[in-house]
Amino acid sequence: MCGIVGFTGRLQAAPILLDGLEKLEYRGYDSAGIAVAAGGGARPDGTAEGGDARPDSTAEGGDAQAAGSAAAFARPDSESAIEIVKAKGRLKVLREMTDDGRSVPGTCGIGHTRWATHGEPSVVNSHPHCAKNKRVAVVHNGIIENYQDIRARLTKEGFTFLSETDTEAAAHLLDKYYSGDPVEAIGKMMFRIRGSYALGILFADRPGEIYAVRKDSPLIVGRSEEGNFIASDAPAILRYTRDVCFIPNLEIVKLTGTEIHFYNVDQEEVEETFSQVSWDTEAAEKGGFAHFMLKEIYEQPKAVRDTVSPRISEGHVNLEELGMSQEELAKISRIQMVACGSAYHVCMTAKYMVEQTARVPVDVDLASEFRYRNPVMEKDTLVVVVSQSGETADSLAALREAKKLGYRVLGIVNVVGSSIAREADSVFYTWAGPEISVATTKAYSTQLAAVYLLAIGLGRAKGVIGEAAEKEMTAELMRLPEKIERILEEKERIQWFANKFSYSRDIFFIGRGLDYASSLEGSLKLKEISYIHSEAYAAGELKHGTISLIEDGILVVGVATQSGLFEKLISNMVEVKSRGAYVLGVTSYGYYSMEDVANYTVYVPKTMECFAASLTVVPLQLLAYYMALGKGLDVDKPRNLAKSVTVE
Ligand code: F6R
Repeated sequence: MCGIVGFTGRLQAAPILLDGLEKLEYRGYDSAGIAVAAGGGARPDGTAEGGDARPDSTAEGGDAQAAGSAAAFARPDSESAIEIVKAKGRLKVLREMTDDGRSVPGTCGIGHTRWATHGEPSVVNSHPHCAKNKRVAVVHNGIIENYQDIRARLTKEGFTFLSETDTEAAAHLLDKYYSGDPVEAIGKMMFRIRGSYALGILFADRPGEIYAVRKDSPLIVGRSEEGNFIASDAPAILRYTRDVCFIPNLEIVKLTGTEIHFYNVDQEEVEETFSQVSWDTEAAEKGGFAHFMLKEIYEQPKAVRDTVSPRISEGHVNLEELGMSQEELAKISRIQMVACGSAYHVCMTAKYMVEQTARVPVDVDLASEFRYRNPVMEKDTLVVVVSQSGETADSLAALREAKKLGYRVLGIVNVVGSSIAREADSVFYTWAGPEISVATTKAYSTQLAAVYLLAIGLGRAKGVIGEAAEKEMTAELMRLPEKIERILEEKERIQWFANKFSYSRDIFFIGRGLDYASSLEGSLKLKEISYIHSEAYAAGELKHGTISLIEDGILVVGVATQSGLFEKLISNMVEVKSRGAYVLGVTSYGYYSMEDVANYTVYVPKTMECFAASLTVVPLQLLAYYMALGKGLDVDKPRNLAKSVTVE
């Protein structure tokens, strides 16, 4: 989704904005722009001196065309103290246009990478958007749902809209309401707009000041000796500060170079606390790997270890952080899991795992469905929302729906302080560290680990499993990281295979039980980064229609790790092979009869069957990665996708 960065302080803003936007590239975008306010010139050393030292030679005007991307340059008009530069395409176009930010002087500015929702990717639709004479400039993440209504009314009042975006409505509303008090204007605007928003705002007559406000879209502020920041995600500003505050929902913030003030919706000043982000910049860099995705695949052993080991002591799972007594846990009669995308696949795995280990029925819903389906749930249902970002719009809405209905909500979340983490009754953090690649890998693995811990803890509280079983399971959980390492040591086998098949047109993944849940994830991973059409099927379901698609040479990936289902899956593999499919088998060491059917077999170390998904997912991630690479695709920036889906 869109990325936002803002800086005001002692340094030149534009280079900081570009640097921050670059760190947010992973979120997905199609255009970018910056707005820098006059006021505070630059010394040659890059620090600012007081007063308005805007050089005469403003940045070059006219239309710029770069590397196939249409790019336009908004010539600063003489009445305005805000200069805006925007470009369609990659951030490097904006960098080139601004000489890496050097040609846009000023120490206070906001920047944006846009992921188009309203209006095609174009210069005119890219942010910042402004009101007439650039009195106000705005960057926005989210969706203003009633923008058409606002647009119609404001047009009647004489406002002129230039873009097709919903954001421009916010810029004009602010202009309309502004009469010298920014917080008041923002407050009035908040009463007029519906939907979700994180806004960074500059007022031309308030040099050195940035205003920000958010509702249901993430936005943080950061502070440092050199100045203060806003950002939609911590990696954008980690290079400058780790001292951050997640702006609470519906709060307005005013930043100057030295001060930060928070206001509630009634425009009363309120106190907020800052915390330290424990991630370092290195965690958000590629560290020698070709792509973030590969780096994060390799970080899985550590991520799983970090998630599991603090919760296990002397063979016993400790779920104290849920804030529920053993009696309360034992009382849970049903679990309702909700999530989106890969996190939903974790929930599918959890269904099999929790039902077997704790004998508690588990319902799984896509968050986008759950939020509107008026669910019927039992009294002692625990609702579990799984989300890496903690900001996914549908998952957050599902959480609120569950709370409204009076259910206790547990969030399994990776980003500390995110909206889901703050609004859930209890949080179980996955300690994956920052996940930059759009395609999730290490966060997925830690989510699996989290649901295993939950299943074991619940099984114990309910007396379904005894002490010996708990010890055996936790010991094996602790061994998972080294087993993942062993798979990674043998990555060449899957790499070779992926290269051979990278130009496949359709691929099917089949599995039964837990292996079906893993197949869903393998299929999603493949299609999102390699753009190869693929589907995952519960293997027994294939012959109820989809088998008609199997023809000569089609690749079918069969995942088989469950002893009770192994033979069944082998039969399904024979069925597709006899119709011309080329079959890749993914199984555990020991199941050597796989080779009688599969054309090619990849083995993962043996583990307890309930944990097999943590191992089979690794070759499936590598398969997707190397197939995408084989096609020459940009693995970390797949088309049309965004890392954190903060709009509905
Ligand atoms: C796929 C992927 C997405 C996310 C989904 C939910 O690789 O990353 O399918 O799993 O958008 O995101 P979170 O977990 O942030 O709620």
